[in-house]
Amino acid sequence: MRTLRTVAELRAALAEPRRRGARIGLVPTMGAFHAGHLSLMRRARAECDEVVVSLFVNPAQFNEAGDLNAYPRDEARDAALAAEAGVDLLFAPAVEEVYPAGFATRVSVEGLTDRLEGAHRGREHFDGVCTVVTKLLNMVAADVAYFGQKDAQQALVIRRLVRDLDIPVEIEVCPTVREPDGLAMSSRNAHLSAEDRRRALGLHRALRAAEAAVAEGERDVATIRRRALDELAAAGVETEYFELVSPETLTPVSGVDEPVLALVAGRVGGTRLIDNQMLSTAAGAGTPPSAGREARDREKPCIARC
Ligand code: PAJ
Repeated sequence: MRTLRTVAELRAALAEPRRRGARIGLVPTMGAFHAGHLSLMRRARAECDEVVVSLFVNPAQFNEAGDLNAYPRDEARDAALAAEAGVDLLFAPAVEEVYPAGFATRVSVEGLTDRLEGAHRGREHFDGVCTVVTKLLNMVAADVAYFGQKDAQQALVIRRLVRDLDIPVEIEVCPTVREPDGLAMSSRNAHLSAEDRRRALGLHRALRAAEAAVAEGERDVATIRRRALDELAAAGVETEYFELVSPETLTPVSGVDEPVLALVAGRVGGTRLIDNQMLSTAAGAGTPPSAGREARDREKPCIARC
């Protein structure tokens, strides 16, 4: 695996694979790799001839300077893990390479970014994500780019962006990888104390409670939300939102007659965490949710084509 710092180096390294018609896959990341990131890299390795991982902690998408400064960084460890996952090129540019002096462009997706994460983190967050992802897609000119269902709203926004700007790339969304007890893997989990780690499980419990309610035949959104919010409160999570929305538009649903996406965000200690899960009235209805393969499979249908 080679590590590249500039767009010129990246383009030069991709010239030969492109000439021979290689399928090029891109996995955009901010580093601090965990099993979730590695699952995207392995998927790209299995489906592509040339795998590029970008590692760039994007200042434009952080609305709190403290959060940006505290973001875990360990490039040597990340490079070793990426190499092990079979990555060919690690693109790790400096901030000035991505945002040189005079940089003045912003990519903004309207509508989908107003709600949920957009409402709580400010719309600058998604503008920052959209701007950097557009740049990365242009720099790499990949055939396919891989994103995680863990950030469901981000994945939807990126699909919209690619469609609206006619960027010739396929977007693949891959299932959320979890710790054995169900906590969604996140770079931010590193900030959790042992006590906060226990509290953090409240997000997964809330999603499971909503899933159980639907499986028992409950269709009323207010009742399902109440059960989920009770779980969050019992675990000691400071809830920011728990919403049931359409998986295509992210608008609130009035009942659970079709598959809906449940999304949750909250803080434990100083750490902000998010999670989500599809709630289906069909698969698994009437059976208690299990922590096994069936439960993981129910996370797939959303915006994923994996
Ligand atoms: P980052 O948080 O590093 O995540 C990189 C990719 O890994 C994202 O597509 C994210 O959804 C995915 N991911 C994170 N946790 C996961 C998990 N537990 N299971 C599966 N996939 C998971 O998301 C970003 O970086 C940035 O916003 C980025 C898109 C790179 C733009 O800066």
